[in-house]
Amino acid sequence: MSTTSFDGTDINSTTHEEETPIAMMDVEDPTSDDNAPPLTLAEQAAAILAANDRGTYTVPAGDLYPHQWLWDSCFTAIGLRHLDVDRAQTELVSLTRGQWSNGMIPNIIFSTDAQYNADRNYWRSWINPNSPDDLTTSGITQPPMLAEAVWQVGQSLSSAERRSWFKFMMPHIIRYHEWLYADRDPHKEGLILLVHPWETGLDNTPPWMTELHEHRMPPWISFVRSTHLEGVIGFFRRDRRSIPPGQRFSTLEILTLFDAQRRLRRKAYDTMKILDHGLFSIEDLSYNCMFIRANARLVDIARTIRHELPKELLANMAKTESSLEQLWDPYAKAYWSRDFVTHKLLKQPSISTLLPLYAGSISKERAAELVRMLENQHVFGPSFPVPSVPLDSPQFDANRYWQGPSWVNTNWLIIDGLRRYGYHDHAAALAESTIDMVDQSGFAEYFNPLTAEPLGAHNFSWTAALIIDLLKTN
Ligand code: GLC
Repeated sequence: MSTTSFDGTDINSTTHEEETPIAMMDVEDPTSDDNAPPLTLAEQAAAILAANDRGTYTVPAGDLYPHQWLWDSCFTAIGLRHLDVDRAQTELVSLTRGQWSNGMIPNIIFSTDAQYNADRNYWRSWINPNSPDDLTTSGITQPPMLAEAVWQVGQSLSSAERRSWFKFMMPHIIRYHEWLYADRDPHKEGLILLVHPWETGLDNTPPWMTELHEHRMPPWISFVRSTHLEGVIGFFRRDRRSIPPGQRFSTLEILTLFDAQRRLRRKAYDTMKILDHGLFSIEDLSYNCMFIRANARLVDIARTIRHELPKELLANMAKTESSLEQLWDPYAKAYWSRDFVTHKLLKQPSISTLLPLYAGSISKERAAELVRMLENQHVFGPSFPVPSVPLDSPQFDANRYWQGPSWVNTNWLIIDGLRRYGYHDHAAALAESTIDMVDQSGFAEYFNPLTAEPLGAHNFSWTAALIIDLLKTN
């Protein structure tokens, strides 16, 4: 098993595949054993995390997602801290191995296993001089959950251990947040721009998909559409091997996402070149909400160890909070993402609509507006909330990925936000319905919000980890 120290030394000298824990050798269904007494929900969750453990990091799901993902590892650590706080620390330290020299933390650190050559070659992170020398990563980032995860893991340590944990991780968080301001806020607007839907973590979420379809569809994708080649291409997709088509992206969407990625690769993942060429850039609502919260957590971490954060960073953080208000639409009584270039608000409701609750910086009045949407059973309040797109949106599709299904990680964020604004009963009810949904349907990647039918990958790590956290903290 891996080192438990968080000084990074052991971890840096180890490749992912050198450490294969016993648990992963039998991953068919880690929660079932005919002769044993039935496992509790918490025990099932622990078994899934053990099965998905690759020594220093946890894969989101063995079959479909064989690498390390940024926000997945953060959510995993938040649950793991209740089982084995050393291992939770290792999970987050292993993310820092992928940090680029400019501070960027990539959304994927690729497994070094030979069978994934194609994935690594597709990204080719080595074309950017800031990427690490000893491993391959993606060239884009993901929601900034690291500060929250470091903070939460710290709460499971003694105060002396917590201080050294924070001292070790804080510089990585500072460099990441400084990179976001330097690279992704070129006009000093206070809002971070993203260059690919994968950076939101909500891959096919409506505002991004609408932008892609309406404005950026490259000619060769239109050709695929007009010639009906879609079906042939769909035949070769990895996700389709295990998951029914109606639960994933359409092949056209996938092609569009891959095409957008290829354009970034052609610019060697250099933000300035990407922006110069007028590629995709959106000031994403959910990302900026999570960033506001991450900044607040960074301040908490720094305060705990009496560290003074750089003045410029503090000024930037304050600006992000005030700039979020530019995304408020008084007519719709909602916040939206915004196109970085045109400053047009992208008025497509999605789970992001509710995430200002998690940011924690909005007024009580605005929080109350969001809670009203959550209470409405025709909007965000079906039997198994919270749907990733509201039921009354024409884009709602109960089974399709981030276009309708309920996800445990966004529920966790909303529960936290509800508590912060004093909606303790709402938070407890949502925690309970989330636990019930998983109890009824298993640890799926996502769920049909009307029926709780399990969708996507099985034995999904963040579903397991966050159920452990919800069971412990409710
Ligand atoms: C999908 C999800 C993303 C997640 C990744 C690995 O791409 O949309 O949020 O991080 O899978 O689980």
